[in-house]
Amino acid sequence: MSAVEAELSVWSPEALDTLLPWCEARGIGFLAAMPLGNGFLTGTLTPGEGFEPDDMRARHPRFTAEMMAANQPIVAGLRRVAARHGEHVTPAQVALAWVVAQGRHVVAVPGAKQERWVTENADAARLCLSARDLTEVSGLPRAQGSWE
Ligand SMILES: NC(=O)c1ccc[n+]([C@@H]2O[C@H](COP(=O)([O-])OP(=O)(O)OC[C@H]3O[C@@H](n4cnc5c(N)ncnc54)[C@H](OP(=O)(O)O)[C@@H]3O)[C@@H](O)[C@H]2O)c1
Repeated sequence: MSAVEAELSVWSPEALDTLLPWCEARGIGFLAAMPLGNGFLTGTLTPGEGFEPDDMRARHPRFTAEMMAANQPIVAGLRRVAARHGEHVTPAQVALAWVVAQGRHVVAVPGAKQERWVTENADAARLCLSARDLTEVSGLPRAQGSWE
């Protein structure tokens, strides 16, 4: 086994508890799936926004208008950290930089259909979060809404 792929993001950090250390101890890479929380952590989605019927978020408990509103403090925290790094740094880039900062064996695999997102996400590799930034992001409120 050379790599394990599983979900890891600011609002779904459970892999940090056992899976990441397990991979690290064995020299196995970790591919962080859904590192942008299916787009929520980018701050570009608005509560109540409709999703296409074939989009899994249309039926997902964390993407109801109520839960998206309840989880806005997470996006606000990412925005706060982004602002410290310059006006062009985005919450998406902070979310990705936080993921890859979790270990040298961690790679983020954000999904993006638009070229501008791909460029923005690739540029996140140059964003170096400070210890204060990392602590602040790790300490953001736990996400509300089940994640199935
Ligand atoms: N192993 C597993 O359990 C598992 C499960 C699910 C997914 N995955 C893998 O994980 C990868 C990512 O998952 P995902 O695509 O579902 O979730 P994601 O990467 O967390 O989020 C993707 C969503 O964010 C949007 N987005 C991407 N970059 C953005 C940016 N910079 N600003 C604003 N919005 C942005 C995309 O919009 P657009 O649609 O407009 O591009 C898309 O809606 C995929 O390659 C998938 O194969 C693995």
